[in-house]
Amino acid sequence: MASVAELLEDKRVCICAGSGGVGKTTTSAAIAAGMAARGKRVAVLTIDPAKRLADSLGLPELGNVERQVDPALFAEAGFDLGGGELWAMMLDSKQTFDEVVRKHAPDEETRDRILSNRIYEQLSAALAGSQEYMAMEKLFEIHAEDRYDLLVLDTPPSRDALDFLDAPKRLTQFIEGRALQVFMRPAGLGMKIFGRGTSMMFSVLRRITGVDLLEDLAEFFQAFSGMVEGFRERARRVNELLGDPRTSFLVVCAPQGEPISEAVYFHRKLVEAEMPFGGVIVNKVHYEGELPDDAGEVEAELAEAVGGDLARRVAENLRDYAALAARDRRNVAHLAAELRTRAVIQVPYLDEDVHDLAGLMEINRYLFASGSEERTRIAASA
Ligand SMILES: Nc1ncnc2c1ncn2[C@@H]1O[C@H](COP(=O)(O)OP(=O)(O)O)[C@@H](O)[C@H]1O
Ligand SMILES: [Mg+2]
Repeated sequence: MASVAELLEDKRVCICAGSGGVGKTTTSAAIAAGMAARGKRVAVLTIDPAKRLADSLGLPELGNVERQVDPALFAEAGFDLGGGELWAMMLDSKQTFDEVVRKHAPDEETRDRILSNRIYEQLSAALAGSQEYMAMEKLFEIHAEDRYDLLVLDTPPSRDALDFLDAPKRLTQFIEGRALQVFMRPAGLGMKIFGRGTSMMFSVLRRITGVDLLEDLAEFFQAFSGMVEGFRERARRVNELLGDPRTSFLVVCAPQGEPISEAVYFHRKLVEAEMPFGGVIVNKVHYEGELPDDAGEVEAELAEAVGGDLARRVAENLRDYAALAARDRRNVAHLAAELRTRAVIQVPYLDEDVHDLAGLMEINRYLFASGSEERTRIAASA
């Protein structure tokens, strides 16, 4: 079994991918904290951290820039950072999009025209996949600044874990798409393709609302057309960064059947897309560990002390837990076989939610354990 420290040795970027709810945000934060505690300068880009976790790391709600997590918090949690640093930020997609526009706009006037355009305001907030794309965009930007040894990226809670892999491509396709091409023709020409009905609708709208939608649309697309090349180039470089040998994708999943199948599928897609797969983290695993294995015996022993009813319920619970643990063990074995990898790291289902550094460090006992350490710890935790 592997340790995250081994998997990420010499890596500059770690992307935690997988379906929502399996613990991606928790795992990314834990990995970042763990690597910082090993002397690295690490930044973690989180997408939707639970409020308690964000608060405990001192992350303000808005910002879109990295903040350093107070080293005193590490000390309180009993960790010596050495020369390491942990920086964290919460991604704000809208702000990131604005930053991209600022960067690509050929001049100040175009920039202001786009940013104040009503269509842009709607679109930038709603563009399908924009959260995925913006996560990549931010990753790329921070990577280019070259201030950290390691960047850890949490990925959005999309239904399909693959959405973000396609994000750079989707954005360029959108920009190159038919609808946009029409508007990007010389002024006026694009407008003519609307039938009479459409232009009448626009003029009625303008009379009723006072908003010249058509003008906004035309202005938006014309201002954007000058930026297509920049976007395309950038999307290409984002893709390059994702595929770089110093990038590592860690697939995070849960031990139930469906999440395991999703992880297998996701792994296959990563390989097909020639993205560097690093390993898989199975989170919230039920361990058999050192539980007594004869529930009947437990019931008999307990009955005298606490009464038959309670003893029976404890024994039932024990049987249920043992069944879950057996199922998890089978699923994890199946996963390792399907992926043909030894890089499978298991993290137990902890008794409590993970909402502060101490909790992250608890997760790290498993993420960063060497083989023999891991076995004893799992046994001790059960
Ligand atoms: N190993 C674990 N044991 C117990 N609770 C966990 C564990 N991992 C994550 N959690 C909790 O599960 C919830 C979802 O985790 P989160 O990281 O936000 O998932 P995701 O980002 O994949 O949607 C959080 O409340 C978190 O504290
Ligand atoms: Mg999350």
